[in-house]
Amino acid sequence: MPNLVVVGTQWGDEGKGKIVDLLATRVAAVVRFQGGHNAGHTVAVGGEQYKLRLIPSGILHSGTVCMLGNGVVLDLEELCAEIEALVARGVDVGPKRLRISRKCHLILPYHRLLDEARENYKGDRKIGTTGRGIGPCYEDKAGRCGVRVCDLEDMELVRRKIRQALDEKNALLAGLYGRKPITEREVLDSIVRPAARIKPYLADISEEIALVEGAGGEILFEGAQGTHLDIDHGTYPFVTSSSTVAGNAAAGSGIGPDHLHRVLGVVKAYTTRVGSGGMPTEQGGEIGGHLQKKGVEFGTVTGRERRCGWLDTVILRESVRLCGVNSLAVTKLDVLSGLPELKICVAYNYRGQIVEYPPQAEGGLAEAVPVYETMGGWTRSLDEIRSFAELPAAAQDYVRRLEDLAGRPVSMVSVGPERDQTIMR
Ligand code: IMP
Repeated sequence: MPNLVVVGTQWGDEGKGKIVDLLATRVAAVVRFQGGHNAGHTVAVGGEQYKLRLIPSGILHSGTVCMLGNGVVLDLEELCAEIEALVARGVDVGPKRLRISRKCHLILPYHRLLDEARENYKGDRKIGTTGRGIGPCYEDKAGRCGVRVCDLEDMELVRRKIRQALDEKNALLAGLYGRKPITEREVLDSIVRPAARIKPYLADISEEIALVEGAGGEILFEGAQGTHLDIDHGTYPFVTSSSTVAGNAAAGSGIGPDHLHRVLGVVKAYTTRVGSGGMPTEQGGEIGGHLQKKGVEFGTVTGRERRCGWLDTVILRESVRLCGVNSLAVTKLDVLSGLPELKICVAYNYRGQIVEYPPQAEGGLAEAVPVYETMGGWTRSLDEIRSFAELPAAAQDYVRRLEDLAGRPVSMVSVGPERDQTIMR
């Protein structure tokens, strides 16, 4: 298998964790290249569920090395907790299995406090962030005042950076948001112990990828969140703070773009979104309730109910273009069983015009009215189906129509959370 980038084509939660877990047996290494523990990748193995946030979904296969590239932001306490939780369940998460870039920026307690305080302050203009400090950490990275993993080698440098940062952070926390200021001691306490714990894992990820490739190994780059949460291309300002498109797999792990050979886009058979922002195909009532309940659509990280609606091929089409998607993996097709008819959004009516790509103006998506095609539903459960030909005719038609509208072939169809509930085409 050539090097492969796996990205979400919607607003995250497409089921990338399951797809990466399945494909991880075919590669030597799985690399995360952006985001932090705002991500939540769920993998089901033999009836057991693993919820991964930072550690790549390849960790459940003992032959695969997992790497966190420079584009990832790290909360050290959360990372250590995730490592310990996996170890307690018998998963090998030793330094041979997990490698962490020294260039990753650290999420510090003031980032989390500012994320929460700022969201509360926004009143009805909330982004609906996961409250994990992701945005404020990326802000400091861009503002050139972040603390990086490599700084941990020099605690005097770390102290100096934190002291300087606290002048500004506490002025905001206490002065503007009316919160309790945070002390240098509190910040240091949150990193000293976990810093020692992760020391053996630290690496030059760019070099390690080159070594794996040099030995003939292939790499899978695991995207987090989804294309429409991208800081540039997503539904700004209701986006995350990193670049979620496939091209960032190169910059976020320290390799050239010529090493990204293929891109697999993961698309849920319907649409979900957590947090604020336009979602033209959102459904309340019975349809939304069916998708929410049958799809168990609750955020992995925050437990919030996900907003649910019909498949939107306008945003899918744009993701195909933005990420250079070669083929698609459709997930949760089984959730649509039992709906008498299905709708697919094929275009939008935007300010009186029919458009095939999302409007770019801020808030434009909230004004877009979906243009739907109606397709027949099916009643049969898909849980036991293992080949495309066995799918009910209406389910086959649905997948083929999705392919037509996206302009890319569907190479995988998932019909349940377990590894074997997957149809390879
Ligand atoms: P942040 O990434 O915590 O700053 O949140 C920004 C927006 O991205 C919010 O709407 C979140 O709900 C959304 N978001 C962040 N991570 C994920 C994810 O892994 N899945 C789905 N939505 C996410």
